[in-house]
Amino acid sequence: MTENIVSRFWAGLSLVQKSIIVGSVLFIANAAAFTISFGNIQERYQINFLEEAGTAIAKTIGESSKFGIITRNWDILSAQVQGLLTGNISSITILDVGGNPLFEITGSERVVLDDAAVRQKTLSESPSSTERLFDPNGSLHAIIVSQMIESEKRPAREEIGLFTEKAGKERIGTVIVVMNARQVYRELAESRKTFFYLGLLAIAVGISIIVIFVEFTARPLKKLVIATQKVADGDLGYKVEIDTKDEIGTLASSFNTMLERLKETQEKLVMTERLAASGRLAADVAHEINNPLAIMKNYIYLMRKKRMKEDDPNQPTLTIIDGEIDRISRIITQFTDFYRGYQIPLEEVEILGTLKEVIEFYRGKLKERDILLEERMMGSGKVLANRDKLKQVFLNLVKNAEEAIPEEGKIIIETGREGGRIRVSVTDTGTGIKAEDIGRIFDPFFTTKGVKGFGLGLSVTYGIIKNLGGDIEVASEAGKGTTFKVMMPTI
Ligand SMILES: Nc1ncnc2c1ncn2[C@@H]1O[C@H](COP(=O)(O)OP(=O)(O)OP(=O)(O)O)[C@@H](O)[C@H]1O
Ligand SMILES: [Mg+2]
Repeated sequence: MTENIVSRFWAGLSLVQKSIIVGSVLFIANAAAFTISFGNIQERYQINFLEEAGTAIAKTIGESSKFGIITRNWDILSAQVQGLLTGNISSITILDVGGNPLFEITGSERVVLDDAAVRQKTLSESPSSTERLFDPNGSLHAIIVSQMIESEKRPAREEIGLFTEKAGKERIGTVIVVMNARQVYRELAESRKTFFYLGLLAIAVGISIIVIFVEFTARPLKKLVIATQKVADGDLGYKVEIDTKDEIGTLASSFNTMLERLKETQEKLVMTERLAASGRLAADVAHEINNPLAIMKNYIYLMRKKRMKEDDPNQPTLTIIDGEIDRISRIITQFTDFYRGYQIPLEEVEILGTLKEVIEFYRGKLKERDILLEERMMGSGKVLANRDKLKQVFLNLVKNAEEAIPEEGKIIIETGREGGRIRVSVTDTGTGIKAEDIGRIFDPFFTTKGVKGFGLGLSVTYGIIKNLGGDIEVASEAGKGTTFKVMMPTI
């Protein structure tokens, strides 16, 4: 049940909120662990210090009080002991060898001790001892340090030689120093309070830093999320603008590249479908038209040769009709070629050789028109294709380039290898293609050449290249020129 609530709550949080919660919990745990362990170390250190101070005081009094004890001079003793009394000392008691108090001085806060237990210490054989007294709740109450007071045992009137005892040490009493631990705990509590507030401050600052850090890191992520939503809504032209150099920046740039590819693929797909549809339609229509055309041509032939004289005034008209029928027939042949391209038999074709044949075919015409031809053959390869179809591709491209150059200009034909494929590009310094036309140049019957063009060259070219597993791309700038790039897989 609780587990369910927690997981539902967790699932409802954003990544930013989760990061802030995890970061804050870790930070608080760290701060708490540090405060607690520091408090413990401080407590141990203070208590050890108290014990060492008590031992040192007891030793000092043990040494300095001998004379006062022997002479029973409490004034001297009092003066000596008073000087050692500090805030942490609860009482200093000097007992005689029998455990009877000779002298006692108390500090600000007296710890009441069990007299019998204290007397017991005076009977102890060890020269010094330390005992810690605890409250019922386990906290240290007091530290009791006892120190034996010894004096040199001197033979009385030794100087006059009446006694012969040996010199030695003799116990003359015990000093009991009671150190008050309460004061230490009060100080510790004080410092813990300060530490607690400091800890709270550190946690507040730490969490603020975490929140700012997470917000900053997540900002580009949020942009990415918005971008994915836009793309999901069909906006493939959207671009994520993130210029960070971290992993999110890389992700964003990969995302942008992915979008571009997706857009290109989609455009190609649309075009392929459009071309396939018009190709099919064209082939059907062509099939239907070719038969009546053949019949018409036959009858014109019969009329001209059998039913008319050679000088009949209608002869030129029939020549024109015959010519136009031929023109329709040519269009239809190109069309059916385009569609039948799918079934043509394939052979190994050496690209460079085929290209050279086309260049030779055009060389004279280009020279006549003052068009410079530049050849940059930097790679060749064999492709699986149909030689005539491939020739037709290059012919169409060079023909278009030539037709795009109004007066003089230049055509560059270049070949090269690109990632296992062969590239053939035809560049011209002609009129270029208007931006609004570029998406339609591969459409059948799209032409800007009026009656001079059928608008079939590129659609046929496109169909052939696609059938052979290749690609064709165009880059053009109106007024400057155009480049068509054909990529074919090699064998
Ligand atoms: N190199 C080029 N420079 C400028 N525009 C071009 C170029 N190649 C093609 N085009 C444009 O693309 C259109 C379609 O070309 P495509 O080759 O399909 O038909 P066409 O050349 O008009 O006629 P066809 O090739 O059937 O005789 C052209 O009319 C022209 O506007
Ligand atoms: Mg053309």
